[in-house]
Amino acid sequence: MERERIVIFDTTLRDGEQSPGCSMNLEEKLLLARQLDSLGVDIIEAGFPISSQGDFAGVQKVAAEVRRPVIAALARAKKEDIECAWDAVKVASKPRIHLFLASSDIHLQHKLKISREQALQQTKEAVAFARSLCPDIEFSPEDATRTDPQFLCAMVETAVAAGATTVNIPDTVGYTMPEEFARIIKTLLRDVKGADKITLSVHCHNDLGMAVANSLAAVKAGARQVETCMNGIGERAGNCAMEEVIMAMRVRPDIYPYETAVVSEQIYPTSQLLSKVIGATPQPNKAIVGNNAFAHEAGIHQHGMLKNPLCYEIMTPQSVGAPGSRMVLGKHSGRHALASRYAELGYKLSEEDLELCYQQFIALADRKKNVYEQDLISFLPAPQRPISAQAAEVAQT
Ligand code: KIV
Ligand code: ZN
Repeated sequence: MERERIVIFDTTLRDGEQSPGCSMNLEEKLLLARQLDSLGVDIIEAGFPISSQGDFAGVQKVAAEVRRPVIAALARAKKEDIECAWDAVKVASKPRIHLFLASSDIHLQHKLKISREQALQQTKEAVAFARSLCPDIEFSPEDATRTDPQFLCAMVETAVAAGATTVNIPDTVGYTMPEEFARIIKTLLRDVKGADKITLSVHCHNDLGMAVANSLAAVKAGARQVETCMNGIGERAGNCAMEEVIMAMRVRPDIYPYETAVVSEQIYPTSQLLSKVIGATPQPNKAIVGNNAFAHEAGIHQHGMLKNPLCYEIMTPQSVGAPGSRMVLGKHSGRHALASRYAELGYKLSEEDLELCYQQFIALADRKKNVYEQDLISFLPAPQRPISAQAAEVAQT
C-alpha cells in the first residue's frame, strides 16, 4: 500500500532546550544537529535567535554546517525578531523562519493586551515581511487549542494569504484530547481558504501525557508535519517524543499507514547523545529509549522471551539501535532465565545443581535489589568450572 509521507520537524534544540536545565552551548547544538541529520529528520529548529547572542550564534553555526535538512529559526511576529532570525538562518542551504503569535483570548487579553483584530493585522504584516526575506515560512497561532475555532480559522487563513507555507497548530499547554484535536485539524482543512496549498503541522505538549496520542490523531485527521523532541524533552512536561511517534507508525502501519525519513536505528544513539549533553537520562521505564524498555524480569516473561522474543517485544531493540534485550535477574525471575544466565557465564548446570542455585538465588533476590554475577558464581556447588575450561580439557585428552 502507498504510504503518505509525514514531515518530521525536530525542535529538540529549541523547545527541548527550553526545559529547565537543558540549555546547550554552540558546540553541543552542533553535535546534536549533526546527529539529528544522521537520524534523518526533515527540519531542525535550531533555536530562537533573538533570545540571546549565544543562541543566535548556535543557530548560525548549525545553519552553516548542517546542509541536508531545512534549518528553522524561531521568531515572535515582530520585525526585529524576524530580521534577527533571518540573519541567523540565511546561510542555511534550506532556511525557514518560524514565527508565532498567540491566538487564544486568554493570551491576547492578559499577555499581549491586543484585540483579535490587532492579532490578525499583526499576523498579516509579520508573515508578509518574513516571506519577503525567506521563501519558507512557518506560522504558529500559539495556544491554538484554547482558541475560539472560528477565530483560529480566521488567523490561519490570514497567515496563508500572507504567504505562510506551513501552518503549525500548537497545543501549547497540553490541554487538548485526541478526538478534539482531530476535529480542530479537520475543521481547519475544511474551512480555511488555501489550506490545501500549505502543510498543516502539529506541535503538542505533554502536560496531560497526551502529546504523542494527540499528534497521531492529528496525522490521521490530515496533518502532514509533526513537531517532536528527542526523549520528549521540552517546556514543563515536554513535547511529543520523537521516538514514540516514529515507532508507533513503524509498529502499527495497519493503523498509521505513513512513512517518515527517520532512520529508526539512529534513535537510541541520538537519545544517548542528548542525555549526555543535557546531563539527564530518560526515566527507566520511558518507552523506546528508557533503560528498561527492553528489560524483562518476570519469570513467565523471561521464559517467553527465551522461546521467542515476539512473545513480549513488539519491536526489536536493534530496530531502534538499542544494545539488546536484557534478562534482569530478580525475585520474579524463573529457572529458565537463571539457567540461561549461567550458560552465558560459561556454566552448564545439571537439573539438580540448577535447583540448588535457584533456591539460593531466590532467597538472596528477596533480600536485595540486584543479584550480581559474583553472587551467581558463589551459589555454584564446587567444583563447577566454565564450559570453556571443560572443553579445553576434552581437547587435550
Ligand atoms: O508550544 C508552543 O506554542 C510553541 C510555539 C512557539 C510553536 O512552542
Ligand atoms: Zn512548544
